[in-house]
Amino acid sequence: MEIKVTRARTDRTRPADTELGFGTLFTDHMFVMDYSREKGWHNPEIKPYQDFLLPPSAMVLHYGQAIFEGLKAYKTEDKKIQLFRARDNFERMNRSARGMCIPELDIDFVMDAMKQLIRMDEKWIPESLGTSLYIRPTIIATDPFLGVRASFTYKFFIILSSVGAYYSEGFNPVKIWVSKDHVRAVRGGVGEFKTAGNYAASLIASEKAVQKGYAQVLWLDAIERKYIEEVGAMNIFFVMKDEIVTPELTGSILPGITRFSVIDLAKKWGMKIAERKISIDDVFDAHAKGKLVDVFGSGTAAVISPVGEIRYGDRAIAIGDGTPGETAMKFYNALTDIQYGKTPDTEGWIEVIN
Ligand code: PLP
Ligand code: COI
Repeated sequence: MEIKVTRARTDRTRPADTELGFGTLFTDHMFVMDYSREKGWHNPEIKPYQDFLLPPSAMVLHYGQAIFEGLKAYKTEDKKIQLFRARDNFERMNRSARGMCIPELDIDFVMDAMKQLIRMDEKWIPESLGTSLYIRPTIIATDPFLGVRASFTYKFFIILSSVGAYYSEGFNPVKIWVSKDHVRAVRGGVGEFKTAGNYAASLIASEKAVQKGYAQVLWLDAIERKYIEEVGAMNIFFVMKDEIVTPELTGSILPGITRFSVIDLAKKWGMKIAERKISIDDVFDAHAKGKLVDVFGSGTAAVISPVGEIRYGDRAIAIGDGTPGETAMKFYNALTDIQYGKTPDTEGWIEVIN
C-alpha cells in the first residue's frame, strides 16, 4: 500500500526543551488509515495534524471501543533518532485489538509508516535528557450506529508530541494513594489491554488522589482488594532487602514494556527479582521491619519514577529520604543511557531510524 503524503505549510518552531510538559504540544503531521470489512486497512495517509470529522453517532463516542499505545523516539548526542522496543508496542496493540474485537494491524507496515512520519517531523524531537518524542498510535470505532456490537469500520492514527517529564515532580519521588473504594480492572475483564475505558474507569479515584495531594492511584486487585496491581500510568516495583518484587501479570494489569525491561536488566545484573502476588499488608509489614528499601514505578511516559510515600486509608509510609532511591536510580540510568544512546544497546532494544 502506498502512503499518500501531504506536507503541512507551517513555520512553527519547537519550544525550548525546558518548556516541555507532557502531551500538550503536537507536531506538524499525523498518520491516518481507515478500515472497512470490504477493503481491510486502506487509505494510508500522512497529512497535516488536524481535527477529524466524525458523526456524533460514531461508536467510539458511545461505547468506547478504542485502543492506543505509547512509545517514544529519542535523539542521541550525535543526532540519531532511536526507537525503544517499538515492535513490542505494536505487538501489544494487536493483543489489545484482539481483546477489543478490533482488526489487527500489519506491524511491518505501520512501523514503516510511523518511521516515515517521525522523519518528517524530526525537528520536533527534543534533544535533552528527560525529553523525547512521544508517539501515540490509536484505533477508534467509527460506525455511525447506536446498537451495541463491535464496529465494522475503524480509524487508525498516529500523532506525535514533544514531551518532557510526565510528572511535575520530574525524577523526584512521587506520592501515591491506595484506593480502598474503587477498582480499576478485574481478572477476566480488559485490564491487560490498553483500551480507553480502563483509563475512564480510573478517573474518579485519580481525582480523589489529587485532591488529597497524591500524584496517582495505586490499584489493588478487584476481587480480594488486597493484592497490588499497578499505578495509574505505570507498573510498580518494591525493593526489599533480599529481593525486588513486582506484581505478577494476572490479566488485569497492563504488561508494561518498561516493566519487562527492568526485569531483564535485574536478571542480567544478577539481582533477585520475582513476579508474584504482593499484598498491601506485605508492603506495610516490610516497611515496619525496615526491609522496604525502595519503591519505583515503570512506564514509557513515567520512565522510572521513584515513589516517596504510599498512603492506605489512615496509614502512610515514607520511603527513602525524599531523594530517589539507589535502585530506582540504577534502573533509570541504565534505561535512559540505552534510550539516549549513551551506552551500546546490548539488549537489541534500539532501532536507529535515520
Ligand atoms: N500501566 C498502565 C496502566 C499504563 O498506562 C502504562 C503505560 O503505558 C504502563 C503500565 C507502563 O507500560 P509501558 O512500560 O509499556 O509504557
Ligand atoms: C504511557 O506511558 O505511554 C502511557 O500510555 C501512560 C499514560 C500517559 C496513559
